[in-house]
Amino acid sequence: MKILSVTSEIFPLIKTGGLADVTGSLPKALKSYGALIRTLVPGYPLLLSAVQEKQQVYYFPDLFGAPAQLLEARHEGLDLLILVAPSLYDRPGGPYVDQEGKDFSDNWKRFAVLSYVASAITGGLLPGWRPDLVHTHDWQTALTSVYMRHSSNARHVPSVLTIHNLAFQGQFPTSVVSQIGLPPETLSTDCLEYFGYVSYLKGGIQTATAITTVSPTYAREIVSTDLGMGLDGALSARPGVLTGIVNGIDMDVWNPATDPYLPETYDYRRMRQRTINRAHLLDAFRLDHAAGPIFAMVSRLTWQKGGDMMAEVAEEIAMVGGKLIVLGKGDEDIELSLLATAGRHPGRIGVRIGYDEATAHLIHGGADVIIQPSRFEPCGLTQLYALRYGCVPVVSRTGGLSETIIDANDAAMSARVATGFQFHPATADNLRLAVRRALAAYSDPKKWARLQNQGMKANFSWERSAEQYAALYSKLLPRFAYAPA
Ligand code: ADP
Ligand code: GLC
Repeated sequence: MKILSVTSEIFPLIKTGGLADVTGSLPKALKSYGALIRTLVPGYPLLLSAVQEKQQVYYFPDLFGAPAQLLEARHEGLDLLILVAPSLYDRPGGPYVDQEGKDFSDNWKRFAVLSYVASAITGGLLPGWRPDLVHTHDWQTALTSVYMRHSSNARHVPSVLTIHNLAFQGQFPTSVVSQIGLPPETLSTDCLEYFGYVSYLKGGIQTATAITTVSPTYAREIVSTDLGMGLDGALSARPGVLTGIVNGIDMDVWNPATDPYLPETYDYRRMRQRTINRAHLLDAFRLDHAAGPIFAMVSRLTWQKGGDMMAEVAEEIAMVGGKLIVLGKGDEDIELSLLATAGRHPGRIGVRIGYDEATAHLIHGGADVIIQPSRFEPCGLTQLYALRYGCVPVVSRTGGLSETIIDANDAAMSARVATGFQFHPATADNLRLAVRRALAAYSDPKKWARLQNQGMKANFSWERSAEQYAALYSKLLPRFAYAPA
């Protein structure tokens, strides 16, 4: 089965969050089910310089006003198609924002063109390779199925849209429609129109053959007004089309026994080695080495992630003998408030504003608790990495967090299945109480070791989830019965 995956980020080449982790690891996991995935990505400068041996497979003399080319390449097990369109992607900054953190003003065009090219490939642009199915991710590539619907060559090909986060919808003025090669009828309410704007994600929701999101709980949550973010109506109008498949993790990239970023590797039988990582971590954040648990947060510092709640509770952690380490980037007021609290507690609270893969790994390998006070969380990967690294998660009970962490209540402790601490609803006060529960558990070394051990044995590899994607693909393409691995 030939599949075209279309994405705006992919690990290890370009990453702002979990989307990249998923699009980078799912193709490898699906290989054993006979799904051969090629991934179409934009030719950002960083990506182009990291990928060796690229070959041109198509040249566009005029792609929406400028020349462009498609390159094919292989990189660390990924089979890539790279859209090199310098007028759209060759610029400093991240995939979506400039160096000041402001959205690029032409994102409407940058990702519409990517989606247009995905549809063209599906319609037979490349001699010798045509996908049987298309898999798109989030608003950035959701227009693909809208283009496909208006292409006589691609219309019959099934498509899957995975929603990683309903909060980002790709909303733009209706005037963009005439500039991205879509017919005026796509402006109707049953396609792109959304409260006087267009929404690329809504277009995908209306036209994709199947829709998935990244946990069964989030799939239920987004058809309600509470977490539907204005699209619950559009989603509920397609009953039976939306399913939830929980994300897996790349067991090679996130493996404490082999992790090259860790000063000392370890597994559940060699937990003592963690103390060496702890010492490195404390030094890296200039914290004192006094005993006591290290709480940590590795996250976008936004309202969704509860960065503001973390800032509110930080002080208490320092006061009761814990330490807090925060690595993240996001809303300026959250960053400033965390930095100010850290300034008041030198040696106890360390905050680094920025994005740094190596430090993220060191935190998982040396800290005791990872905190995720998300107001909503489609799946969440940080808590899954934390489990594998023996770093106990404290999470709000929402979305994927609610189904991947088992709260350490008495019943779960005595059944030996607990893996972390949950609180609900997501408020600073409830987070404070959960932190106290974690502190109490930490003071009982046997109990703590059990929690770590149970978490490290939980299996969140792609195995189970990849099988669910494979089953969905073959439901859409009955001629390809998949072979369970
Ligand atoms: P989301 O995609 O909503 O940000 P996830 O938990 O699914 O949340 O994925 C976040 C990913 O980004 C994880 O791989 C996490 O380690 C990584 N990450 C988040 N913030 C940082 C940071 N400041 N530095 C390094 N990695 C980060
Ligand atoms: C999104 C979500 C996160 C999820 C990730 C990968 O960014 O916020 O919960 O884990 O996508 O699917």
